[in-house]
Amino acid sequence: SSGAHVPVLVIGTGYGGSVAALRLTQAGVDVHMVEMGMAWDTPGTDGKIFANTKTPDYRSYWLRTRTKQPLSNFLGFPIDKDVPRYTGILDAEDFSGITVYQGRGVGGGSLVNGGMAVTPRRENFGAILPTVNPDEMYNTYYPRANAGLGVNNIDQSWWETVDCYQYSRVGRKHAQRSGFPFVFVPNVYDMQYMKQESAGSVPKSAVDGELLYGNNYGKKTLPKTYLAQAKATGRLAISPLHKVTSVQRDGASYTVVIEQINTTGDTVATKVVTADRVFFAAGSVGTSKLLTKLKANGALPGLNGEVGKGWGDNGNVMCGRANHLWDPTGAVQSSIPTAGIDNWAAGGAFAEVAPLPTGIETFASFYLSITKNPNRAEFSWNASADRVDLNWQTAWKQPAIDMAKSIFDKINAKEGTIYRTDLFGVYKTWGDHLTYHPLGGVVLNKATDNYGRLHGYSGLYVIDGALIPGNTSVNPFVTITALAERNIDKIIATDF
Ligand code: FDA
Repeated sequence: SSGAHVPVLVIGTGYGGSVAALRLTQAGVDVHMVEMGMAWDTPGTDGKIFANTKTPDYRSYWLRTRTKQPLSNFLGFPIDKDVPRYTGILDAEDFSGITVYQGRGVGGGSLVNGGMAVTPRRENFGAILPTVNPDEMYNTYYPRANAGLGVNNIDQSWWETVDCYQYSRVGRKHAQRSGFPFVFVPNVYDMQYMKQESAGSVPKSAVDGELLYGNNYGKKTLPKTYLAQAKATGRLAISPLHKVTSVQRDGASYTVVIEQINTTGDTVATKVVTADRVFFAAGSVGTSKLLTKLKANGALPGLNGEVGKGWGDNGNVMCGRANHLWDPTGAVQSSIPTAGIDNWAAGGAFAEVAPLPTGIETFASFYLSITKNPNRAEFSWNASADRVDLNWQTAWKQPAIDMAKSIFDKINAKEGTIYRTDLFGVYKTWGDHLTYHPLGGVVLNKATDNYGRLHGYSGLYVIDGALIPGNTSVNPFVTITALAERNIDKIIATDF
């Protein structure tokens, strides 16, 4: 409530925030988390907490009146539809040259993501986080993150035969016929549960196409892992539907302004609390926007010139391929991806063999590529519009497209197939308008010290994807979690 004082306030409940909350509460510190999204613990009008991907509704989008589906078209026809404005789970946040998809709610991105839990190859780590000791990461913090997240592997003999991974087996066949390494990747989805879903003995989630708007069963999200453990200490409080708008120094502590919102996004109360320490864990975009604004508007004028810089899209680009009639990908596709094509060393691309869970046979293979796109953007405060802008340009995706083509041009040539041009518009091959993997903006050892302490303000920390300079070579949340584990270890040992 307004006027309260807390020892530690954490802004955001995604990976970075959840690691901070668990390790601090275990160390005996009381933690209060503030989350702008909903709690997602109560069933909606249909008896389920989350909406299905095939039937988006009021729960699906953050304060939009029309859906903004990543695949906007099918057979060239637009598939978006009107929905009531609501504090839904997936934010499609528009900047000038890119739409950044993010999870909103207690659990952050863990609520909406595909659960792919990938530790980068060690030889790539130096390019990902150049000032972090790889021995510590690979011996201690990556294993700790994998354990905390509940990462598991699919039973490959089951994968070889089950209908819902036919799309993935077609992906393997085409990769291998063109000489590309095909690799299985771990996931946080409970693979035993998926077996039971597939056998029809438990309610379906992944096998019924649930993804993007939440999984009603099976996925080990942060509220089931890190946050559940933190709550069990009795030292954690979480305020959903509360958005932090300002942080300012006040003697030895910080004054934090928080707006409470209702489910249509209107502010219903403004609260002012004080905190000895504040952890920014609002995600790459959320943390960067807040700190860029607070530096510019005089609330935290001593932040250094690196704040807002070094933002990247993890090189994300999507595409589909049209298969021959003898290569159907299946009417039933598990929404949980299990594998990728690794052409990072030779071509700068790691392509996830992704599902297209439409419920009908599409003869399409669909891929989300992560590429070594070197372009980086910057956030800036736009005082007249009262918002933070990002200067990314759509044309900056061209290197990503070229790297993805190093895989798919070759596969198309070998198979005698073509790209699908009906998934992102009419005659549009590349999904180059979006990212699922925002990274950077408050880069480690630049805007902060080498452990996330913000320069100029003792007691202020960044502990989320904003620290990572734009690329992780694979899907990012395991690296975000492991880096947070490393940083909080140091911070608890030396600052508390
Ligand atoms: P994260 O975004 O998780 O959490 C930030 C939280 O802060 C959010 O809950 C937000 O609402 C809240 N917040 C923001 N501003 C606030 C404010 N001012 N006040 C209060 N709260 C605020 N990654 C991966 O490794 N494997 C995968 O398979 C996928 N798949 C995938 C699919 C889709 C559709 C998306 C959108 C993303 C993925 N990702 C992924 C990416 C992954 O989910 C992402 O990298 C992490 O969630 C980022 O973790 P952070 O802790 O940085 O922030």
